[in-house]
Amino acid sequence: MMKEKLLKLQAEAMEKITSASQPESLEAARLEYLGKKGELTQVLRGMGEVAPEDRPVMGQLVNSVREAVEAAIEMRRRELSSKIMEARLEREKVDVTIPGEPVVTGRRHPLNTVLGEMIDIFTKMGFDIAEGPEVEYDYYNFEALNIPKDHPARDTQDTFYFTDNVLLRTQTSSVQIRVMEKQKPPIRIVAPGRVYRSDAVDATHSPLFHQMEGLVVDKGITMADLKGTLENLAKMMYGEDSVCRFRPHHFPFTEPSAEMDVQCFACHGEGCRLCKGEGWIEVLGAGMVHPKVLRTCGIDPDVYSGFAFGIGLERVTMRRYNIDDLRLLYENDLRFLGQF
Ligand code: PHE
Repeated sequence: MMKEKLLKLQAEAMEKITSASQPESLEAARLEYLGKKGELTQVLRGMGEVAPEDRPVMGQLVNSVREAVEAAIEMRRRELSSKIMEARLEREKVDVTIPGEPVVTGRRHPLNTVLGEMIDIFTKMGFDIAEGPEVEYDYYNFEALNIPKDHPARDTQDTFYFTDNVLLRTQTSSVQIRVMEKQKPPIRIVAPGRVYRSDAVDATHSPLFHQMEGLVVDKGITMADLKGTLENLAKMMYGEDSVCRFRPHHFPFTEPSAEMDVQCFACHGEGCRLCKGEGWIEVLGAGMVHPKVLRTCGIDPDVYSGFAFGIGLERVTMRRYNIDDLRLLYENDLRFLGQF
């Protein structure tokens, strides 16, 4: 009776073990036969009821069934785990002969390249970098720069106003005031940033563009320092043999004022398409800081003097790369940007 039952159990167990396709179902089979409440365990527990003379034989039989089941489980376990491993290796197989996917790298925007070069040039000359807000008070953008209330530059045509008092800065010259308010001479800074003017968009105008302001204030600063610094900039930007000229101009916050041109590096002054036949290219406005501006900022113009300049970054960039339409710099067309 008991022997038959045991052999039947063994056959059942073997069937379940060999058909287990997952470690989980194999473990379930193990528990079903060999667990604490498992079928074989129950039989073992029932040994007490077997007649004493039959016990050695039955005991041996139970043990051999048990060993056979254990061995089968172990074998199946190995089979399953090697199958799992094979499946995993198959899944994770890497074909090293497949060509790589090209990594598309971004490029620096030409405006940023030019800005980076200029910052490099000025930091080498000992300038610090300053910054100011783009949303600015009338005071910093106009009033403190000696631009009186009725000056045409304040016309709403040119300036984006939020309120009577708050506007989008139209020039980085506002940073001059902010720096001189906080810092006493010697001052030597450049301040790059965005500026805004309410211009209609065309090939040479944009309501948003970039300037780099420069300001030097110390004892004994003269126009010669201004010219030397800016000629040095031109040489570093456009080459040792580049030629500059200064033309008188007017800005309310500098006296005297000038504009600097560089000789067209395409035609060397002959006149060509790039310089529109002029032979010269205007690159910046500059001048000696107006005594009134110094005084407004609490700097005594009888002791100190200074010069300031403002460079249009778009203009320099367009000349540098021979770009004839300003809009290209803002459209972010990858076919355009990919060329730099
Ligand atoms: N802020 C002037 C402009 O936007 C440029 C400038 C700066 C001129 C500093 C003189 C000194 O045109």
